[in-house]
Amino acid sequence: MSTKTQQIPAQALRQQHALCAMIREFWQAQGIAPLAFIDTYGCQQNEADSERIAGMLEQCGYSFTRSEEGADIVILNTCAIREHAEQRVFGNVGALVHTKRRHPRQKIFLCGCMMGQPHVSDRIRRSYPHVDGVFSTHHLWRFPELLWHILQGGKRVFAVEDSDGAISEGLPVARGNSLKAWGSVMYGCNNFCSYCIVPYVRGRERSREPAEIIKECSDLLAQGFKEITLLGQNVNSYGKDLALDIDFADLMAQIAALPGEFRLRFMTSHPKDASEKLFDTIAAHPNICKQFHLPFQSGNDRILREMNRRYTASEYLRLVDYGRAKMPDLVLTSDVIVGFPGETEAEFDDTLKLIERVRFDALFTFIYSPREGTPAAKMADPTSRADKNHRFDRLLEAQNRISAEIHRAYIGKTLRVLVDGREDAQLTARTDGGRLVRFTGDDSLIGTFLDLRITESTTWSLLGEIPNRAE
Ligand code: 5AD
Ligand code: SF4
Repeated sequence: MSTKTQQIPAQALRQQHALCAMIREFWQAQGIAPLAFIDTYGCQQNEADSERIAGMLEQCGYSFTRSEEGADIVILNTCAIREHAEQRVFGNVGALVHTKRRHPRQKIFLCGCMMGQPHVSDRIRRSYPHVDGVFSTHHLWRFPELLWHILQGGKRVFAVEDSDGAISEGLPVARGNSLKAWGSVMYGCNNFCSYCIVPYVRGRERSREPAEIIKECSDLLAQGFKEITLLGQNVNSYGKDLALDIDFADLMAQIAALPGEFRLRFMTSHPKDASEKLFDTIAAHPNICKQFHLPFQSGNDRILREMNRRYTASEYLRLVDYGRAKMPDLVLTSDVIVGFPGETEAEFDDTLKLIERVRFDALFTFIYSPREGTPAAKMADPTSRADKNHRFDRLLEAQNRISAEIHRAYIGKTLRVLVDGREDAQLTARTDGGRLVRFTGDDSLIGTFLDLRITESTTWSLLGEIPNRAE
């Protein structure tokens, strides 16, 4: 084994598979076809985790429904990144009292990042007795065992012990989409940005073996998937815990070289680790999307220091300039936090300046939300909510103008897209840069790559048409 990272032993995973079979028989014996409802909050990592839970449920004989009403199991896969996400979860868990009353055999499980916080699992224990089971991300692979225990009439379970984390290979996956797939390359985060809860709830960075990842990707391509997004909290750290000479750029190059027509994306990168080699690798492979999600969080160096980000605004700009020099069409997106504790108006202006300088295609903007247990939650935060909202509005206004301008510049261009579905009367597609394009066409085009001529634009999307072949 070429990794120092702990793997869940194959024997323990085989036991979970055996429990899935027992659960299937449990339902068959009663002549019931059980239904499951999974509600996923938060990021792509949670989406990927939910697909694993769905895979296990499928093995247990469940099929899926789109509502908690009448479901035999309801699973809320939660997000802890901001308070708002947590409040939504608590609201929805509360409401499940009624659905369970209407369908008494309903079992309720909560999982995901919120459940890695002791104060949250304690609150569930105390105030939400209708919840049958809770497991944090570290215990996801044990879900069949927890479910079996509950179905046998066992006491409610809390699998929330903290851990640095391990890797479990070979869990079944029920993918939510037949064109686009997630491929986790690593889990956890070692960065401890001072505002962020992720390192506390998802454990330390650990990389999957390259052979496992490449096998998963080639299986996906053989099944007809057209787009793979490689996932990790900080993909640039990939391989550091492996006793192999491989980094993320090497891994991506190997995947890009697999046969077939497909495209490769990745997220997320930390600017302190994003290397020129990574940009060079993207530039060198036509099937690696020319899109880079590179969160900058703040344009002010003092705030960046307080955030423990370990780069300066000018270092960030240097990276952006390098990427753009290599790839003039590079689509850049980013995350930014407004109203970090102690941020002054002048410091916020540096964030505005940075976005005017970079001109991101799209920005994910957040108002700072204190997370219990993180260093920033203890920092003095004298700025009023009204002032933070005002900064947020100014930022959004500036970014909306920039996004609209960038989108307008696409008009008249021909762009390669992957057609991914239908929304009402129009087909939807994504450009290499991840921009949404709507156009009129036949359903048979779904799942194909196509050149579209862009005819109109809005702040958030583009309109296109299939170019006339005679032209
Ligand atoms: N408050 C507000 N935004 C946060 N993010 C992470 N933690 C917080 C927090 N406590 C944002 C960061 C990160 C994105 C996923 O969420 O911008 O990049
Ligand atoms: Fe959170 Fe920072 Fe890790 Fe991203 S890099 S998950 S913001 S601690």
